[in-house]
Amino acid sequence: MAREFSTVGVVGLGTMGAGIVEVFARNGIDVVAVEISAPALERGRATLKGSTDRAVAKGKLAEADRDALHERVHFAVGLDALHSVDLVIEAVPEHLDLKQRIFAELDRVCRPETILATNTSSLSVTEISVATSRPNQVIGIHFFNPAPVMKLVEVVRTVVTAPEVVADVEALCARLGKVDVTINDRAGFIANALLFGYLNHAVAMFESHYATREDIDAAMKLGCGLPMGPLALMDLIGLDTAYEILDTMYRRGGRDRRHAPVPLLKQMVTAGLLGRKSGRGFYTYERPGSPVVVPDEATPLATDAALADGARAIAKVGVVGSGTMATGIIEVFAKAGYEVVSVTCGMEKSAKVCEAVKTSLNKGVVRGKLAEADRDAALGRISWSATLDHLADVDLVVEAVVEELSVKKALFASLDEICKPGVVLATTTSSLPVIDVAMATQRPADVVGLHFFNPAPVMPLVEVVRTIRTSPEATATARAVCAALGKTGVVCGDRSGFIVNALLFPYLNDAVKMLEASYSTADDIDHAMKLGCGYPMGPFELLDVVGLDVSLAIQRELYLELREPGFAPAPLLEHLVTAGYLGRKTRRGFRDHSHR
Ligand SMILES: NC(=O)c1ccc[n+]([C@@H]2O[C@H](COP(=O)([O-])OP(=O)(O)OC[C@H]3O[C@@H](n4cnc5c(N)ncnc54)[C@H](O)[C@@H]3O)[C@@H](O)[C@H]2O)c1
Repeated sequence: MAREFSTVGVVGLGTMGAGIVEVFARNGIDVVAVEISAPALERGRATLKGSTDRAVAKGKLAEADRDALHERVHFAVGLDALHSVDLVIEAVPEHLDLKQRIFAELDRVCRPETILATNTSSLSVTEISVATSRPNQVIGIHFFNPAPVMKLVEVVRTVVTAPEVVADVEALCARLGKVDVTINDRAGFIANALLFGYLNHAVAMFESHYATREDIDAAMKLGCGLPMGPLALMDLIGLDTAYEILDTMYRRGGRDRRHAPVPLLKQMVTAGLLGRKSGRGFYTYERPGSPVVVPDEATPLATDAALADGARAIAKVGVVGSGTMATGIIEVFAKAGYEVVSVTCGMEKSAKVCEAVKTSLNKGVVRGKLAEADRDAALGRISWSATLDHLADVDLVVEAVVEELSVKKALFASLDEICKPGVVLATTTSSLPVIDVAMATQRPADVVGLHFFNPAPVMPLVEVVRTIRTSPEATATARAVCAALGKTGVVCGDRSGFIVNALLFPYLNDAVKMLEASYSTADDIDHAMKLGCGYPMGPFELLDVVGLDVSLAIQRELYLELREPGFAPAPLLEHLVTAGYLGRKTRRGFRDHSHR
């Protein structure tokens, strides 16, 4: 028989604690909610009220249920109020000495059988537990932000946590409607160990002006389908909390430089820019605690006029290549009303590309997304050629040929001879340095990267890569073209992986390393990222879709360019590729897909 939890205590009613109170009270459990001072207690009460009022306004909670929920919560200052609860969850700031002090006090105040739990993200549950005389009844219950919404709970057992305590807490999570993964006590557990290196890397990109905050966030949302960008997520987590988590992970997790907090973070925390809770972090909010972003001095002007500032007029576009990307890009431009010249290396290839574009447009018609007349008009705007000479009068060339530097360089040298002055020359490379391609021409100022995502007609993101030689006009032109295509163009520097791959693949590689270390299973890791962080796919699902060979190649490039030891490809990834387990395309990758 699992233990009954009729009353629980929550210590600290900040970002996490207030949400945890709501989770328990919503599920019929009485809560004693404790803070350090009367003003802090009032803040916590207001947070709970605001959250439940929003739930009522959205029709997710009946008014009577809200009132019953509030009646279940008893607010108090000081830990003494917790003398008769069955379980306590501590959610005070991420400092070991503070948590140890609180646990020693809880040990004194609470009944001997009470379970003491910490919501720590990165500190050692074991070290917290030894501050009490009952380490076998101490456990980690790690909720995700916002606690009422996110389904995942990481249950952290130490080497001394009693098995029945683990079982009781697992049963409690089920009662709360949460999905739990139970793991051992390691810095960052599953989700944060995979998340925080990525978040810190995004802050480093922002700090070095590699891309703007809006572009970094848009890239990850639109390129990977994440619910929010990394900098907006840092603001939600709280920069002080994020700093402490990174700092602890750096010290506990083998001094991986990727977890050493980026200096900007410390500066922002010192300056009181803590994110949403203080009303300002990477973004500015309507007021402290509000999720509504308001414009500030760093907000870009979103008008078409601003986008077009310095941009050259583009009417006719050349697309070179005959693969998946070229085909998709031809369709995108033609549908958006541009005149398109498709150039392949032979009329047979042209016929194939033409068929592929027709098939794709027809699908749009069948699905009711494209009118027949618009399909015909789009096709009518495309001319098919097997010679580069037909690019003499285009305004923009998009190259999407094979991913080999020598081939691209030769092509750009030819384009340089053929194209009229002022043309923007774009490469769709996803891994080669754009500057190498640019320097094959006499006009590197006009060369940019236009990194489309696959399938180009569907994916809303394009990375606009500017090299150190790219002119502001060429960048503005590329960005304006993306907008005209109905896509979001994010501008970034010319570094391996641009924004999306540079932030995504190290995270995937870290997941492989975590599996390799037998810390958790592929299923639990996938669950943790989907249910704890709202990712559309877990890392192993995504790796099997992308292809392990492709992922390994990208990871190798990142490692070679940045020489970051933490980016070294996971040996398990290398072995799977060597064994021919490449993912869905070979019916086996991290999972066996032969029966699906
Ligand atoms: N922010 C997140 O996204 C997130 C997610 C999961 C877990 N966590 C973890 O949850 C814990 C709390 O983080 P947070 O972001 O909610 O912090 P926070 O700063 O928003 O809130 C902490 C609260 O604890 C209160 N407090 C401080 N000392 C206290 C004491 N002695 N007694 C009672 N209350 C006290 C503070 O007044 C404050 O309201 C940390 O361990 C953190 O790592 C945070």
